[in-house]
Amino acid sequence: MIKKIGILTSGGDSPGMNNAIRSIVLSSIKLKIKIIGIFDGFLGLYKNRMIKLNFKSVFNLINIGGTFLRTSRFPKFVKKKIRLKSIKNLISSKIDALIIIGGNGSYMGAKCLHEMGFTCICLPGTIDNDINGTDYTIGYSTALENIVKSIDSLRDNSSSHQRISIVEIMGRNCGDLTLNSAIAGGCDFIILPEIPYNFLNLINNIKNKINLGKKHLIIAITENICNIKKLAKYIEITTKKETRTTILGYVQRGGIPIAYDRILASRMGFFAVELLLKGYSGKFIGIKNDKLIFHDIDYAFKKKKKIFKKKWMENIQKIF
Ligand code: F6P
Repeated sequence: MIKKIGILTSGGDSPGMNNAIRSIVLSSIKLKIKIIGIFDGFLGLYKNRMIKLNFKSVFNLINIGGTFLRTSRFPKFVKKKIRLKSIKNLISSKIDALIIIGGNGSYMGAKCLHEMGFTCICLPGTIDNDINGTDYTIGYSTALENIVKSIDSLRDNSSSHQRISIVEIMGRNCGDLTLNSAIAGGCDFIILPEIPYNFLNLINNIKNKINLGKKHLIIAITENICNIKKLAKYIEITTKKETRTTILGYVQRGGIPIAYDRILASRMGFFAVELLLKGYSGKFIGIKNDKLIFHDIDYAFKKKKKIFKKKWMENIQKIF
């Protein structure tokens, strides 16, 4: 019988995390379940940084990005003695179950706790959209909007100066943010981790576009593929066209969550409480064709099904 639930947010923050917390708090209160917030992710769990939450704790959170419970990356959680101390903290606060909002790394922590006998459910909170088994993660859609706005701004500069602009987009090893923001932002070239890119072809394609009359170009590339400063130098030398770089960085992760993320987080938060009450543990929640679903945590670590096929990508490149 679940009488008290703990919530924590872990890993990179993402817009909508507050909405998930709010939904968990409000639905727990309705169901007469006590609710405890754990600050700073797994680090705060280990350090016993806990606070009782009530409906006042989530006032005016609906349109606030980030996470008011704060977050951290805490690789030391792999150590068993750190996890044992964390479980001791949970037990001494009489917490029966934990809801963890975060990405793949956070799921590792949840899986370990579950295997040690502690009840856990995870929600997908990351801008990267890199979790297998869910169409969308909380924060992805807001980050996508942020990126498209930035590409629009970049277009002004690129076109005024008639430059080539390279824009580096987050996603870790997942190209969803890059692909979709590049389509929405009308970028000329898209370089993704999932599809090997031939940089010699890139140069030829840039030259072709210039010959066709293009005065400025935007290249969207996912982080961790190459050093974009070096790439810019290489393009500038080989095409004789001024080339500038922009790393969008953490602005992508911030700001007011858009309606889709607020709704997704609210639905998932309520569903997490429901699953706990039904006796589930070691699961994460996803959304498929607008329907909430859940899987074993391990399923999240499997290679994510690509949202695009090579052929489709080739067609996109032809359009731009
Ligand atoms: O997982 C979200 C993410 O923003 C990735 O896109 C990025 O690679 C990483 O986090 C950055 O991590 P940190 O916040 O630890 O610098």
